[in-house]
Amino acid sequence: MISVAIMGHGVVGSGVADIIYSHKQKLFSAVGEELYIKYILDLREFPDSPFAERFTKNFDDILGDVEVRIVVETMGGIHPAYDYVKACLKAGKSVVTSNKELVAAHGAELLAIAKETNANFLFEASVGGGIPIIRPINQCLVANNVSEIAGILNGTTNFILTKMIKENMDLDVALKLAQDLGYAERNPAADIEGHDACRKICILASLTFGKHIYPEACYTEGITGITLEDVEYASVWGGVIKLIGSVKKVDKDKIDIIVAPMFIPNESQLSSIDDVFNGIMVRGDAVGDVVFYGRGAGKLPTASAVVADVIDCVKHLKARKYLSWIDSDNSSVIPHEDSVTAVYVRASASDRQAAYDKAESVFGEIHRLEKENAPKKELAFVTEPMTVKEFTEKLKEFESDEIKAESLIRIGDL
Ligand code: HSE
Repeated sequence: MISVAIMGHGVVGSGVADIIYSHKQKLFSAVGEELYIKYILDLREFPDSPFAERFTKNFDDILGDVEVRIVVETMGGIHPAYDYVKACLKAGKSVVTSNKELVAAHGAELLAIAKETNANFLFEASVGGGIPIIRPINQCLVANNVSEIAGILNGTTNFILTKMIKENMDLDVALKLAQDLGYAERNPAADIEGHDACRKICILASLTFGKHIYPEACYTEGITGITLEDVEYASVWGGVIKLIGSVKKVDKDKIDIIVAPMFIPNESQLSSIDDVFNGIMVRGDAVGDVVFYGRGAGKLPTASAVVADVIDCVKHLKARKYLSWIDSDNSSVIPHEDSVTAVYVRASASDRQAAYDKAESVFGEIHRLEKENAPKKELAFVTEPMTVKEFTEKLKEFESDEIKAESLIRIGDL
């Protein structure tokens, strides 16, 4: 029998307990031993839970119990998760977490401690919920030089954008619906401002390129500025707007990492990933493009990934699994102004034709977007790819008292 403790009995933690309970036989056949939930740490009371007598409010019960070899952290946030996880790893206990904020902020340090104490620190559920992505990158695709990863990494914003695209719903109405359906938090900032997707792409970048990439180094834009006009212009262009987390290798030791809404062509596999689903494309030099698709959030999908990590820990109680990256100072990330992209521009102008002429003289070749029923004073176009620095300079030259840019969205080369 292998004793496990679960820290946090919220949506994911209770899902982990449910799966260990309901899939007892299946999990027994996977490892040849029974998984026994010895403790559940939570400050709340759960008198009706089948595990009611195993709840504790005292972390030291878990830390001090030598029988507990594997600890699941599903509390979320940094405090007290960071201190608890660190203490468990220092005590030689393996830790499984779904906490992307923790891994994105402290992954390198926690992996180093796990290595020192011959424990495992696994976090499959921290990116893409139930979608296998950490293990495939670390194991199945290890023979490849990966040049790029790009994906829809946040279910809440994908749900909102899907409602805007398919049902012409305003962003605020779609957000309210997402909250009513329990997809978005009451305070939805981490989702709609892109921070959640940023943490996830940083984890994938760290794993793929071997150096910790901290969220501060990742240029991040959310979806709050997206309007139904932009959605329509994306359709005229031949695509859809998606919030994309992307990291690409631009040189031997340099990467370009970003989270931002992008125009994605209809031909891209990512364009048809809708609702709360996530999709992640990994570009390897041997395998080509591989796309992972599935439920990126939710109780059981996320718990499915957590329990798989627990099983992996059981199988690797003696021989450590190799999963690691080194700490870094973010110097491998290129400055955002050096990032190259084509840009969609929507502008208002007192003289539309004169504004198009000026756009051509300032930006060079542009692709005009003509939408039915567009206001007389509105124009929209897509530039050729250029650095953000170059674009910013040209935009300054383009804007005037008569011409004002209303919306700027990158074109995803996917
Ligand atoms: N809020 C996240 C999402 C949950 O919407 O994708 C999973 O990380």
